[in-house]
Amino acid sequence: MLSRRTLTVVHKASSRALSTRASTILQALDIPTSNEIPGVYDGTWKGEGELFESLCPTTGEVLARVRSASPQELQLALEKSKEAYKFIRSVPAPRRGELVRQIREALAAKRDELGALVSLEMGKIRTEGVGEVQEFIDIVRYTHADYAVGLSRIMNGRVVASERPGHSILEVPNPLGVVAVLSAFNFPVAVYGWNLALSLAAGNATLWKPAPSTPLCSIAVIKIIASVLEKNGIPGAVAGLVTGGKDIGQAVVQSQDVDMVSFTGSEAVGRDVGKVVQSRFGKVLLELGGNNASIVMPDADLSLAVPAVFFGAVGTAGQRCTSTRRLYLHRSIAPTFLSKLQSLYSSLQPGDPLESATLLGPLHNRAAVGIYSNAVDRLRRAGAEILIGGSQYGSEDLKDTLTGGNFVRPTIAVPSKVDVTDAIWREETFAPILTVGVFDELEEAIGWNNGVPQGLSSSLWTKDLRNVGKWIGPAGSDTGIVNVNVGTSGAEIGAAFGGNKSTGWGRESGGDAWKQYVRWSACTINFSDEAPLAQGVNFSTSS
Ligand code: UN1
Repeated sequence: MLSRRTLTVVHKASSRALSTRASTILQALDIPTSNEIPGVYDGTWKGEGELFESLCPTTGEVLARVRSASPQELQLALEKSKEAYKFIRSVPAPRRGELVRQIREALAAKRDELGALVSLEMGKIRTEGVGEVQEFIDIVRYTHADYAVGLSRIMNGRVVASERPGHSILEVPNPLGVVAVLSAFNFPVAVYGWNLALSLAAGNATLWKPAPSTPLCSIAVIKIIASVLEKNGIPGAVAGLVTGGKDIGQAVVQSQDVDMVSFTGSEAVGRDVGKVVQSRFGKVLLELGGNNASIVMPDADLSLAVPAVFFGAVGTAGQRCTSTRRLYLHRSIAPTFLSKLQSLYSSLQPGDPLESATLLGPLHNRAAVGIYSNAVDRLRRAGAEILIGGSQYGSEDLKDTLTGGNFVRPTIAVPSKVDVTDAIWREETFAPILTVGVFDELEEAIGWNNGVPQGLSSSLWTKDLRNVGKWIGPAGSDTGIVNVNVGTSGAEIGAAFGGNKSTGWGRESGGDAWKQYVRWSACTINFSDEAPLAQGVNFSTSS
């Protein structure tokens, strides 16, 4: 992911008139539409730190001004999180599962309103905003109702056979402590949801530090969760919140009070987070850059592959970690594929993501527009042919209300050759730019797929089982998500989500991801009248 740190710090508040478009959405979620909003929750709402603006990516409107945590408030929030952990770790896991179930119900009741807020504040189209809240609901469901009687009832350890008579060995998953979740702007609800659901079911207190530019989504979500906790007599700091910028993030990452840091963001920041947490021997879960490729074989069903690549590259305006950034086409189908893809691109119109007909919303912020333009310039300088796109939308292309938005044209670029040592192929640009190469043999394309630093998602389009075997096997794709006839983005919550290499090796959501949110205790219990040593070691003074 690109650096998601662009933020606006405001020094003095001024009065403002909020558009009806925005105020309707905020009011539906009990977010004040005037004055400053407190951005810290540790059982009570507060905020005495820096003031941050939430800007609408579509119109440029200031949606709200949020007070982040002062250093003292952050320390207090960390202390309260520790206390909350001591409380929640003793609540039986199925009872924690019941809390998680109630959170799901409360979220589901506000799903459409929250989805609209995601769309308003992040800029993704409404169906994707609602879809993201659905991901939170799904993971909660997975942890409680759908997955047997819920992960909270089956976060089991194991009984291991001992080599010594009258001994038993147990592997016990115990609650871990305080889990800090540092999330990115592009999934301002779901990524926290994946983490919270597992962390709470596992018996931890979770402290959320969202991206500085999406404070409202986090405030709305925490309000919903806090009401559930309050109703059940659970300390609010079980699900605490500290909004703020880099300083707050760094202090959280450095804190000895934080047992695990789950970080989603850029490779550059993730590298630092990893080092800092490792240097204090904390646990770290990283979900960093993606530079995802789709490979299309000659036998692929193009009626499926073309729309999937279109969604992968253009959906969320190219701002998913799993967005399709590289497209490798077999020489025999390349011209046909590209002409079909181009005609889908030509039909796109930028629009308000809140309107149901819109497929293309804005980039999240101004900085992202600059990054998009630089990447396109670099491709041009490298001699790439720009098949379509390649520039920002001008005011003449946009409705009057959208001229303050960050709209760019989705771009297809064909460099003169594929060279995965070149920055145009190996760096992630968090924008709708698709870079295309042509291959003759599957092995060559797999080599290109694997030849970049990142390893999040990849997809192969084929009907030939032999290709599938190669692709998913030892000499196949080295990414964490390896799809066949399914695009690179849009993973379901049931499988573990995450990537390898510079993506950071973290796994969130389904599969065995929960095992990271616990402290494993290997317990050997002797219930015999002897005390033999393991491996038959004799350490007796009497011979
Ligand atoms: C991300 O982009 O950070 O697979 C997460 C997907 C989504 C999650 C993406 N379910 O595209």
